Amino acid sequence: MSRSPMIVRTVPTLRRAVDSLRTRRATVALVPTMGALHDGHVSLVDLAKRRADKVVVSIFVNPTQFAPTEDFGSYPRTWKADIAKLAAEKVDLVWHPDVKAMYPDGFSTRILPEGPATVGLEDRFRPHFFGGVATVVAKLFAQVRPDVAIFGEKDFQQLRVVTRMATDLDLGVKVIGSKTVRERDGLAMSSRNVYLSPEERQIAPELYRAMKESARLLRSGTEIEAAMAAGTEIIKRAGFKLDYFELRHAETLAPVSSRDERPMRILVAAKLGTTRLIDNMGV
Ligand code: PAF
Repeated sequence: MSRSPMIVRTVPTLRRAVDSLRTRRATVALVPTMGALHDGHVSLVDLAKRRADKVVVSIFVNPTQFAPTEDFGSYPRTWKADIAKLAAEKVDLVWHPDVKAMYPDGFSTRILPEGPATVGLEDRFRPHFFGGVATVVAKLFAQVRPDVAIFGEKDFQQLRVVTRMATDLDLGVKVIGSKTVRERDGLAMSSRNVYLSPEERQIAPELYRAMKESARLLRSGTEIEAAMAAGTEIIKRAGFKLDYFELRHAETLAPVSSRDERPMRILVAAKLGTTRLIDNMGV
């Protein structure tokens, strides 16, 4: 039978709870989430269990990474189902602060990441986003003090930003990326997929097909421009409004002009109706 994980809601309680997890030098992994957990999150927890003795999952819908026009208010919140999933995974601790615990009155510090946070991908369309992510992730690291932290490759630019920040600020946390989990038709799992209408859900896997086609062409020697144009065409024909479909260096996220600049990654963001989807694929 699965036992409910310990749930803590204040920083002092969290500190005591993590200290008690650490007895006998146990290592601790943190899996930061905003809840609405799906099999992609479960795979992050599975990786965490392989990389550390104890697993802490944070569930916090972070207001500072949403613009006023975005979906903070309507972001899916599925607390009971989330806890059932984490209990089945035998997670040790759930850190679930409210907004006041995370951002008390007078809070006035914000981390402004550069480098991979300013390469003209997500940052071009969501200029507030990485400042909010970096600030909350730095706080989560300071609160939990994990040995390792697991982030999904699905948010590839975020993974690069957080990895850079942990190194730059000597946070003492090893950031580990975890492979994207896909539905059977290729759509990357995301908490926001619930926003798709049944018709849009049928179309959504075209993003995956577009990346696969461009990656195939690049691997078989097609020039970058032609290979990326083929994927762009698939996305536009399917009816998406495209934000970007780009080939970048997988470490720096800088644009690449030659197929020798490896490792490379295709990154895409596009809207279907009002739902914005992002995805990426290694080449
Ligand atoms: O990827 C997410 O769910 C969020 O951006 C994160 C890392 C939990 C920070 O709020």
